[in-house]
Amino acid sequence: MNNKFYITTPIYYPSGRYHIGTAYTEVLADSVKRYHNLKGEDTYMLTGSDEHGQKIQEKAEEAGKSPKQYVDEMAVMAKELWAKMDIQYDDYIQTTESRHEKIVQKIFDRFMEQGDIYKGEYKGWYCVPCETYFTETQLVNGKCPDCGREVKLMKEEAYFFNMKKYADRLLKYYEEHPDFIKPAFRKNEMINNFIKPGLEDLCVTRTSFDWGIKVLKDPKHVIYVWVDALTNYLTALGYLSEDDTLFKKYWPADLQVVGKDIARFHLIYWPIFLMALDLPLPKTILVHNWIMMKDGKMSKSKGNVIYPETLIDRYGLDSTRYFLLRQVPVAQDGLFTPEEFVERYNFDLCNDLSNLLNRTVSMVNKYFDGNVPKYNGNQNEVDEEFEKFTVEQIEKFEQKMEECEIANALQEIWTIISRTNKYIDETTPYGLAIEEENKEKLESCMYHLIENLRKIAILIKPFMNDTAENIFRQIGIKDEELKVWKLLKENDKIKNAKVIEKGEPIFMRLDPEEEIEYIKNVMKG
Ligand code: ME8
Ligand code: MG
Repeated sequence: MNNKFYITTPIYYPSGRYHIGTAYTEVLADSVKRYHNLKGEDTYMLTGSDEHGQKIQEKAEEAGKSPKQYVDEMAVMAKELWAKMDIQYDDYIQTTESRHEKIVQKIFDRFMEQGDIYKGEYKGWYCVPCETYFTETQLVNGKCPDCGREVKLMKEEAYFFNMKKYADRLLKYYEEHPDFIKPAFRKNEMINNFIKPGLEDLCVTRTSFDWGIKVLKDPKHVIYVWVDALTNYLTALGYLSEDDTLFKKYWPADLQVVGKDIARFHLIYWPIFLMALDLPLPKTILVHNWIMMKDGKMSKSKGNVIYPETLIDRYGLDSTRYFLLRQVPVAQDGLFTPEEFVERYNFDLCNDLSNLLNRTVSMVNKYFDGNVPKYNGNQNEVDEEFEKFTVEQIEKFEQKMEECEIANALQEIWTIISRTNKYIDETTPYGLAIEEENKEKLESCMYHLIENLRKIAILIKPFMNDTAENIFRQIGIKDEELKVWKLLKENDKIKNAKVIEKGEPIFMRLDPEEEIEYIKNVMKG
């Protein structure tokens, strides 16, 4: 088993408030990190902000601030949101920090010395918001193929990175490392859309603006934002700096999480830069799909934007995190609708999970004065089958997590929750309680319910930490060992637990009409 786990998220553009789509990337990465923590691995998570480029310069001007002042304020805002969402990153890098800028210059120099970067002239259709040049054929109806906005024809002296030189090596790498790209269909997309038609050399500098890292040997050129941005994954670890302890410990990354819109940069240019630096490539790059609205992408102009704070303030952090992760199947887009949000809250969280806990706590109080009975083995086939089923489900959950199919992994947990509810119907504790001769069966039934709630709490902990702790508290699990992965599959470890006297519902049923109306109104702004 792996005992270190380095995970990164993209560094975000500080171009405004973050909506639930942007938050999705972060929650996904944070949950995967916490899962690896739970398993006892030494995890390290990096996030940050991507602060150079023309677009940011313009934003700062609009706000009447210097670019540096503007990006610093935005970074504070971002950190506040991540704190509110309980994102446990270990480092936050800003690309305007000197620890980053100095090393980017060194990397650029090295590429020049090696002949990977050469000087030429660039002519093309430039999209300012996307900071990307396009060729005539890439345009869609004469507009930017990514965002659909106007593009301008521009020409400038520029440096280029010789991508062609690495194309075959990249293809070979893809073939030999089936885990490199997840989901696998993204690999074919890269090969068919970009590599097979012939990889073009990438323009890596600009002279049309100056808010960026200067090329040391030719300072009228500013390093193009993607060379600057992508290398953050290395510079944050101290690569090529005086202290590269973290780099030695954590590189290569174990998982790099990126959204589908930046797949090309991470699946083609990034590995090529690493090859040029003679560095090992990340083990896996996970490309996730998007949260969409009924009328397409979220945008302020459409008035369909939803911010994480809206959901957190009214429904709590855990239900917000749960919804985001459950709703996007990773390999496909997921839809945000107020109806589905409320429905998932009421069904998955309230009916399935919260009621299971409540019923169990009240039965243990009623039949055993709150004392969880000792494990007395399996009393019948139902118990046996129930234990076996749960452990098998845990293994399915693990497989899904390894494949980074987070929504499916959550579904496996909910299958355990449903099965546990069904176990109550099968064993009919109300009936068992009538006859003294059924006492052992009743003890076994209560033990099994508490044991499964313990397992469920461990499984949901990476996604919904407070809810998990709340469950442990209500069922009287205090021993830290019983809250982590190590004893998860054991069935007889709970001793002397006492449930709380009166169960507290962890999720209260929402009034659908009222709440759907509420969310719709907030979205309108
Ligand atoms: O792309 N659903 O930054 P960014 C899911 N600075 N994810 C979404 C989303 C949605 N509706 N909208 C955006 C950048 N995202 C670069 C990255 S990395 C070296 C440089 C995701 O702020 C998007 O896919 O535009 C991306 O992963 C992240 O938010 C940040 O986007
Ligand atoms: Mg973007």
